[in-house]
Amino acid sequence: MRKQLLRRTMNAAEHPPVMAWQEIFDLIRPELALVEEQIRAESVSSASVVTAIGQYLQVSGGKRVRPALVLLSAKLFGAASRSAINLGTVTEIIHTATLVHDDVIDEADRRRGRPSTNSRWGNHTSVLAGDWLYMQAFKIAVQERNFRILDILIELTQLMVEGELIQMGMIGRVDLKVEEHLDLIYRKTACLFGACTRLGAVLGGQDDHTQNLLGEYGRNLGMAFQLVDDLLDFTASEEILGKPVGSDLREGKVTLALIHALKRCTAEEKAKIEKVIEEGAFRSVSWNEVLDLLHRYDTLRMVKEQAEKYSLAALECLETLPDSPYKRALIALPDFVINRES
Ligand code: IPE
Ligand code: IPE
Ligand code: MG
Ligand code: MG
Repeated sequence: MRKQLLRRTMNAAEHPPVMAWQEIFDLIRPELALVEEQIRAESVSSASVVTAIGQYLQVSGGKRVRPALVLLSAKLFGAASRSAINLGTVTEIIHTATLVHDDVIDEADRRRGRPSTNSRWGNHTSVLAGDWLYMQAFKIAVQERNFRILDILIELTQLMVEGELIQMGMIGRVDLKVEEHLDLIYRKTACLFGACTRLGAVLGGQDDHTQNLLGEYGRNLGMAFQLVDDLLDFTASEEILGKPVGSDLREGKVTLALIHALKRCTAEEKAKIEKVIEEGAFRSVSWNEVLDLLHRYDTLRMVKEQAEKYSLAALECLETLPDSPYKRALIALPDFVINRES
């Protein structure tokens, strides 16, 4: 089924559907380097601590998925590269600001393999640096003089902030419904992915229909990305992931694999999960006991399958678009998202 869809989406069976990561990267290498340069240049404030934080975050790296999505979608429609670079920078800075605030809220001590901003500079400074970064992103975006772009970015930022607020209200809840969780991950992650790809179509002068197709592609890819992120919290190692693992449950966040398991498990097993949340640690109940529970009900596999469904839905959005190297790159991305280790 997947092969059939890939073939249809490609419009040409003779093209090999797989594109290596390096090939994707090569398509946007010069623009990504300019995004990097712009992030560095735009992270300078008259408050030296903000500059220090901005530079610290920039050199810590990150996968730069969001600028890559803007650039690939914009180039798919032959959009001018300066605007695409600007909006690549904007989306990455917005992402960075959300991470700075998120680590304050989650009291996380590591990010991108280094101490988090809050653990180095404290919460107060981090909140203000996050605010500054948001405004810096909008300052760059305003230069495009395009209200459609501002609409997308404003709506997106509000959805993400609402997502963090909704998540705070969900902390410790073991009765979460699948739909509640899916709405949350849409807000946390997928709406930004969708905005990135939609912005590419906007820059390329596409009509509403095509903007929606690209937006839907990004949204589905983002849903898969966050579901995999939730899985990695159970299955990855901290060294590879660059942030703590096992932290969702410790923080009282019940993600999809647990939601499925909690619907199926015994009262005794459920009480163990509640114990971890109550203690905020794997003290009376070990990490391995939690993993055993997930394996017993096979719910990690269920989440992976759900992520694969979103990947397929992403591919379907591309079906009617003309073939090009950029389209082939977008077709290849879901596999990287599903199989990523960090
Ligand atoms: C982290 O996003 C936050 C989530 C949406 C899971 P990334 O995994 O893209 O983080 P970086 O930018 O590569 O560090
Ligand atoms: C990701 O939230 C941050 C946003 C997308 C706002 P999480 O708290 O789930 O992700 P990590 O694990 O800190 O990256
Ligand atoms: Mg977090
Ligand atoms: Mg969080």
